Amino acid sequence: MSKNICFIDGLEGILKYRDVDINELIDLPYDAVSYLLIRGELPGKQELAEYSARLHAERGINREVMDIIRMCNLNIDAMEALRTVVSFISQFDPDLNDNSQEGNMRKAIRLIAVVPTIVAAYYRTANGKEPVPPDPSLSHGANFLYMIKGIKPDPLEAEIMEKDFILSAEHELNASTFSSRVTASTLSDLYSAVVSGLCTLKGPLHGGARAEVMTMLEEIASPENAEMYVLEKIKKREKIMGFGHRVYKTYDPRGTIFKQLSRRLAEVKGDMRWYSIAEEIENNVIRELVEKRGKPIYPNIDFYSGVIYKYMEIPPQLATSIFAIGRISGWIAHCFDQYEKKRIIRPRIFMLDEC
Ligand code: SDX
Repeated sequence: MSKNICFIDGLEGILKYRDVDINELIDLPYDAVSYLLIRGELPGKQELAEYSARLHAERGINREVMDIIRMCNLNIDAMEALRTVVSFISQFDPDLNDNSQEGNMRKAIRLIAVVPTIVAAYYRTANGKEPVPPDPSLSHGANFLYMIKGIKPDPLEAEIMEKDFILSAEHELNASTFSSRVTASTLSDLYSAVVSGLCTLKGPLHGGARAEVMTMLEEIASPENAEMYVLEKIKKREKIMGFGHRVYKTYDPRGTIFKQLSRRLAEVKGDMRWYSIAEEIENNVIRELVEKRGKPIYPNIDFYSGVIYKYMEIPPQLATSIFAIGRISGWIAHCFDQYEKKRIIRPRIFMLDEC
């Protein structure tokens, strides 16, 4: 695979997966973007049909997996259950220790397909409801919403969920991808690498920020309270969740797309409340941190995605696992690349000073 898995220009706010700009990928099915990431090229019509058919056929979970889900603490973030269950199912994959390209591709398809089902089954169980079996006729996004809500999703919500998975799919050497790569670099199996990614993604400085954004929106409750909230945070030198980025020193292009999507959703729902709170937070952060203090702190991927979940009535406990559902294709693409290198990642301690 010759193309870069990911390209980011943090000064211009450009993001590409395998040399294709994110704005060109956003209207494709998630399956096509997943194929692009792990295979290196966009699929043709026939290739996409075959890949989707394989993914959709691998969505189911069996009774033993449901037993494990029921044994999980049902009052925690879905990420905790997800990492436990992914670790559990690895033991029954006949390809677990087959690190050939074919073996890894079979595991990749199973993992990408089954992770949304685990998250949805945990969510339904935790809420005292029967799990909803996956529907192979639905797209990745529509099927996930169907499995958590138990009804065929509204087409706009399904479209936005599909786009969320695409925007979340890949972001170069972020902390969770780095974790996955380190695990793969030891020639450990793909499940272990994905579990490493899950464990790292959940931290509030990384994917966990989405849930924190939702809590912040609830706490602020009304656009008039946003200014006071932002000023207080800055005074106490606390981080405002959903803002700032190690690489972007301008608007995160994913944040910009999420902002447009959340506005569209707010307008269609005829309820601007969450969007207006978010926009007020953004305006105040830009004025106080960017304009007055010259710090490049802009909304990142986790800010307006949190707004979208408020409108879709998705609770904070699911927010990070939704990020994980999208990101798994990116982790796997990096693991495949790492397996080809057959070289362990072993930095020296002094290199951490640069991180
Ligand atoms: C993701 O790496 C990736 O690509 C990650 C990701 C992906 O797709 O994988 O994009 C996903 O993790 C998005 C980030 C989600 N996290 C948050 O929203 C949490 C809030 N953000 C910050 O904690 C922070 O901006 C980070 C962790 C995202 C980036 O941290 P950096 O680059 O190490 O920045 P820093 O903590 O060293 O801060 C530099 C300065 C500091 O001020 P000074 O001490 O220099 O005066 O910027 C300030 C910080 O206080 N600052 C913020 C801020 N983020 C940075 N001030 C207020 N609010 C913020 N959010």
